[in-house]
Amino acid sequence: MPVRAIGSRLWWGLPLLIVLLWGTGVLLVPHIPGLPAAPQTTVVGLPLTKYVRDCASFLTVGCLLVAALQPALAPRILRAAATWAIVWLLASAGFAALTVSDVLAKPLQAIITDANARQFTGQTYTGRVLLAQVIACCLVLALVGLLAITHRFLAVAIALALALAAAAIPALLGHGGLSGGHVVATMSLAVHFASVACWVGGLAVIAWLTAASGANLVLIRRFSTVALACVIIAAESGLLNGSVRLTTPAAFVATAYGSLLLLKVAVLAVLVGYGWHQRQVVIPGIAAGDRGKPLLVLAAGEAGLMAVAIAAAIGMSRVGPPVTTVSVAYFTPVATTMLAIGLPAAAYTLTHQPNWLHWPSRLPEIPAVLLCILAFESAVVQSSSTSSAQAAVIATSIALAACGWLWTLSWDGQRRLTSLALVAIGWPIVLAIGNVVTGSSSWPQVALASALAEGIIVLVARRSMQRPRISSSSQIGIDVHQ
Ligand code: HEM
Repeated sequence: MPVRAIGSRLWWGLPLLIVLLWGTGVLLVPHIPGLPAAPQTTVVGLPLTKYVRDCASFLTVGCLLVAALQPALAPRILRAAATWAIVWLLASAGFAALTVSDVLAKPLQAIITDANARQFTGQTYTGRVLLAQVIACCLVLALVGLLAITHRFLAVAIALALALAAAAIPALLGHGGLSGGHVVATMSLAVHFASVACWVGGLAVIAWLTAASGANLVLIRRFSTVALACVIIAAESGLLNGSVRLTTPAAFVATAYGSLLLLKVAVLAVLVGYGWHQRQVVIPGIAAGDRGKPLLVLAAGEAGLMAVAIAAAIGMSRVGPPVTTVSVAYFTPVATTMLAIGLPAAAYTLTHQPNWLHWPSRLPEIPAVLLCILAFESAVVQSSSTSSAQAAVIATSIALAACGWLWTLSWDGQRRLTSLALVAIGWPIVLAIGNVVTGSSSWPQVALASALAEGIIVLVARRSMQRPRISSSSQIGIDVHQ
């Protein structure tokens, strides 16, 4: 059944989201004496519903985008568009109800009859935006239904524009809404939403069509151009949005929000590598007669990574950016892991191995042990003097990333397993000892960072085992045929 097949990997993000929320501590309901607390089901259900809403909106946009790129396919795709628009509408309504339950700290069943809930929805800014989202979903659904009858290109284009605007509405609910100094944050987030919707949704629908009836070269070429523009816009708008909310280098590494942002940057870097491979290798292969299997293999990997990025984004929106200027030289375990392992691993997939630096592959113990020592150092860096804190953060970040990069140079060598195993074993121990010494992170954060590190190392080890051992410096890291 196509609806289930479209982008099924995107749903992997749901369990990951639970782990991220648990690791960052936002699944716990804060109990403040004298104040009512939101029910646990609301606290868990809210981000999960948001994830479903976002993915359903992306898939609806993706169906309409593909119908606009190749109008001949419209009759086939519109039924899937309608199905996803229904899921989107239900998830938006569920999200609105859960938000009211969260704000009023009342169980879901109680808010249906609650007069305050009606007042909240009709009279507050948040309530009106939530209502606007539900109404926009209804309009998209009605237009898609109309399209099934008319199949006119103009109607597809209008439905796509409306769906994009509806997908971007949640940006108005960002921290602060569309007011005062938050205009840049809100607008950049709306652009981010729209570009990610076209990119994620379009890719999922193209993968579905390719799996169902083989590669469609014209469509794939057209989408590839759109996807390139979307990646650039998504990266630009995401970085702009992040820099508006995180105003000092320390905020990127000392807060859960900044650490998840680093995770997203690493994921985006790998996705760029995948896109490059898609354009340079897979599309020419399809032009030469390939049926599209490499495209599907790559698209499955891309969808999995997109799920990680979306889960991290929703984690960020739950954690929230820091409210005051962060000027403390402190590294969260997730930030350390991303700087030392995540970003170098992403760079490994994007760049050539230099052919002038051979010692890390001959002596992999050195970069591996150095990396663990530096991770410990970063855990115990705790300067709170404003002047030295930012310098310490920048210097330690560069040192972690550089040492991580040296470590990646051993991944294609003869003793790559030794190198990977040393860090796989050492990393959780180092993070745990660092936390015992400083006591500055929570144990779920340490567990989350260790799990992320192990996950990346397992992925690298799997790929590394299938690659030829070092010597060729002309090799790019991604190999979709594996
Ligand atoms: C350079 C890379 C990226 C950066 C810097 C970035 C940054 C951001 C920021 C700052 C937000 C706002 C979070 C908040 O509400 O406080 C956001 C939201 C979002 N991002 Fe990204 N992003 C990047 C890449 C991606 C990618 C690759 C995807 C998916 C494929 C993605 C999907 C999303 C989604 C779905 C949201 C909205 C989540 C929600 O609140 O419903 N981002 N991003």
